[in-house]
Amino acid sequence: MKLLLAGGRVIDPSQNLDAHMDILIENGKIAEIEKNANKPKTDSRKSAAREINIIDIKGMVVVPGLIDMHTHLREPGFEYRETIQTGSEAGAAGGFTSVACMPNTNPVNDTRSVTEYIKRKAASCNLVNVYPIASVSMGSEGVSLTEFMDLKDAGAMAFSDDGKPVTNSALMRRALEYASSLGMSIISHCEDTCLSQGGSMNEGFVSTELGLQGIPNIAEDAIVARDIIIADYTGALLHIAHVSTAGAVRLIRDAKDRGLMVTAETAPHYFALTDEALREFDTCAKVNPPLRTIEDVKAVKEGLRDGTIDVIASDHAPHASTDKEVEFEYASFGITGLETSLALSLRLVDDGILTLGQLILRMSTNPARILNIPKGTLKTGGDADITVIDPNRNWTVDRNRLRSKGQNTPFHGQAMKGKAIMTIMGGEIKYRDMP
Ligand code: DOR
Ligand code: ZN
Repeated sequence: MKLLLAGGRVIDPSQNLDAHMDILIENGKIAEIEKNANKPKTDSRKSAAREINIIDIKGMVVVPGLIDMHTHLREPGFEYRETIQTGSEAGAAGGFTSVACMPNTNPVNDTRSVTEYIKRKAASCNLVNVYPIASVSMGSEGVSLTEFMDLKDAGAMAFSDDGKPVTNSALMRRALEYASSLGMSIISHCEDTCLSQGGSMNEGFVSTELGLQGIPNIAEDAIVARDIIIADYTGALLHIAHVSTAGAVRLIRDAKDRGLMVTAETAPHYFALTDEALREFDTCAKVNPPLRTIEDVKAVKEGLRDGTIDVIASDHAPHASTDKEVEFEYASFGITGLETSLALSLRLVDDGILTLGQLILRMSTNPARILNIPKGTLKTGGDADITVIDPNRNWTVDRNRLRSKGQNTPFHGQAMKGKAIMTIMGGEIKYRDMP
């Protein structure tokens, strides 16, 4: 069966494309993309046209399938928080055709068997492409490196001890050198744990008023600076995860100006919220790194605007109510994000910070480049991974209606504008929210 997406506004940063076009999908691939792709060229084509499932998407935006390069799928080991199945459902509903999943599972994804398990399970769910990220160190304990080559061979796309920093600088150096020789990035969770120790929110005015121990910006900035220095020395590929501070943005901008191969991501909550969101002790807004101040939010937005920050990733961190419905200090860090990421990011377009094309670059084309996967494009011949967005759909976040098992969203009850209404992976419709 062929599928024709007709009349939408096609935005594909990989081809500098923003035009009203039709996309013909055949055998899971993008067969044609042009004005009136279904217009029969010959009589024989006319009868073939009857075999085409034509979907009218006038008024909608069509983009390369969104890619979330920072997701916690929790399986194996924490299935009460999320499974590959529920995480894939949440991803597809959020407009994602690909997600890269972090290794802080149980067991940690530090061996070929775990990487292969994730891939096998994801393939049987068959809703989104799942790209495992393997850990840098065994058990993410920061002592000895994992077998990078073996993990790459098993399907790992990058390495990270996310949730924890790689504290040992010598280990980080070796990790960067080794990963880079394989053409892969180290994704760094930048946190000096001596500085953040015991903190549960941003250190500042609000933490003082609430009487909660804070996590200072310098906990993030110090490790961003260290990792950039090591990346400079080794010439390696470094990706900075979940940037939340003005200082980190400045350091990354400077590194890029100097031509280093440093890339960076932020998550929607770092430009949509500040530490004011914790006034009511909402544990759903407790996240690591913590929500910062308005100055940091402005800097993160400016970093997104000028390209210092290459990627918006959800940092989807689903938790169970038992993890969150406890005293603030004891609550787990993390925000469920796959189903709110797109709408929150579209606010940047409404606010004139990014064009739609620049947004899709940060949510599809750039993550594909950093993970080195053949995605993030609508070029003819490529996989038909496509997201259709209704930029004007108004909806309200309802934590009880999320596909994810994680209901831990600080956006519950908030009005959103813009939504994925169709998610197509490999030419198959995996999610549909339209007549
Ligand atoms: O808030 C967070 N949650 N930050 C992390 O780095 C890890 C994540 C998780 O795994 O829950
Ligand atoms: Zn992290």
